[in-house]
Amino acid sequence: MRRRTAGLAAGALAGALTLTGCSDSGSNAPDRADLSVASPYMPQPVSADMAAGFLTITNEGGAGDELTAVSSDVAGQVTMHSTSGGAMAEESSFGIPAHGRLVFRSGGNHLMFEKLKRAPKQGQTVTVKLTFAKSGPLTVEMPVKAATYTPSTGH
Ligand code: CU
Repeated sequence: MRRRTAGLAAGALAGALTLTGCSDSGSNAPDRADLSVASPYMPQPVSADMAAGFLTITNEGGAGDELTAVSSDVAGQVTMHSTSGGAMAEESSFGIPAHGRLVFRSGGNHLMFEKLKRAPKQGQTVTVKLTFAKSGPLTVEMPVKAATYTPSTGH
């Protein structure tokens, strides 16, 4: 199935959904990234002005891309951090390899929601917009979970 159409910027979200919907057509995007987001969550923050967020971005396409910016309706600013040896560092971008994944998880890479405009509570969702170097932006509804939530146990 050929999809080398223009208009990546216009309606890239719709395009991604379409591609996801025809998974029986094999490799959809041999020469560009094909991004989707899974397992987003925010532990209910214990701090009044800062929260963390986690998600996984999967690239089923044949070209890499980069996550270059994150924003949210609840935060004045969202920054991207890596963790190594227990110390975290702010990153300006994260690579998403072809046929690979970019994982944000507790103890590793994470999103930091700063200058919170309201306190996210368990059961709510926050809207997160992901901006990429090549692909169009993706908007994610990120559920707020218990402060102690762990994806592996589901509670
Ligand atoms: Cu951090």
